[in-house]
Amino acid sequence: MLSLSRFAVLGLSLIPAVFSSPLYRPSKRGGTIALALNTDFPDPAFVQHTDGSWYAFGTNSNGKRIQVAHSTDFESWTLLQDEALPTLSGWETEVNHWAPDVIRRSDGKYVMYYSAEYQGGNGHHCIGIALGGDNPVGPYIPVSNSPFACPLDQGGAIDAAGFEDEDGSRYVVYKVDGNGGDCVNGGTPGTSTPIMLQPVQEDGITSVGNPTKILDRDESEGPLVEAPYLTKTSDGKYVLFYSSHCFNDPNYDVRYATASSITGPYTKAGFSLVYTDDKLYGPGGATVDAEGRMLFHGWCNNNSMRCMYAANLDLGDERIALA
Ligand SMILES: *[C@@H]1O[C@H](CO)[C@@H](O)[C@H](O)[C@H]1NC(C)=O
Repeated sequence: MLSLSRFAVLGLSLIPAVFSSPLYRPSKRGGTIALALNTDFPDPAFVQHTDGSWYAFGTNSNGKRIQVAHSTDFESWTLLQDEALPTLSGWETEVNHWAPDVIRRSDGKYVMYYSAEYQGGNGHHCIGIALGGDNPVGPYIPVSNSPFACPLDQGGAIDAAGFEDEDGSRYVVYKVDGNGGDCVNGGTPGTSTPIMLQPVQEDGITSVGNPTKILDRDESEGPLVEAPYLTKTSDGKYVLFYSSHCFNDPNYDVRYATASSITGPYTKAGFSLVYTDDKLYGPGGATVDAEGRMLFHGWCNNNSMRCMYAANLDLGDERIALA
């Protein structure tokens, strides 16, 4: 495992802008953060295979629409050469596949949620679902000729992630991309970017009823909230991890909100759990499992790409912290 201190030089000239922001309220960060993949691998998600090893999935880069990496110990990661999404659905363009998430169903099949650019949608994204077999690497095949969620009149939707509750009921969370996908991008400042919760059947694919809005941005979070990921602690608390601010802004971060019911209300913790400091720049896009294992990305290699980082969280504490 590489020590982050070797990368301490990264982004130093931009740090003062962060600490001068009156809205920036970092937690007291302890814990260990490790560089897990020294390559462009944004918005990582992960799933544990039946053999106990781990597969991570990342936004398009390194010549792949959806990237896959593998680890036997959650510490040492290898980028695989597989293309997880070799076929496209009729509604999506070839470019800009973002923020995949993968779940394993009770029948052993893997399901991928991803964001893709809608053809003729002015660059806006929608949520697609692709079904794999019993190999987490894929190939994943789109399940439908139409998107799972596609509110184009509100800017589209991105950053889908699956969640299975203790009773086996399944959900998908995603972000309505009201900021236009490129942060404010000439749009109206203050546009809402709701995080939605959509119940789905046991297949992880078929919607049940309408989605519920469970979170939205506030002024401390800049133009947006995004990258939702829902997990549940052993004492039954729902924890919704998310990122605030623009993805290329040093204020991009990992935050969380908690609720005792899956539909909310979610109470924001009100601070950044992972944030820009002397070792990280613009971290976000986190995925956290029920045991507190976390993957996220941060800008690296002279801020030219977003590498994957790994950490552990103490989910049991009233105030969640890095372990
Ligand atoms: C880092 O990026 C800056 C700005 O693009 C550039 O001027 C500088 O040469 C780069 N440094 C290295 C070591 O590549």
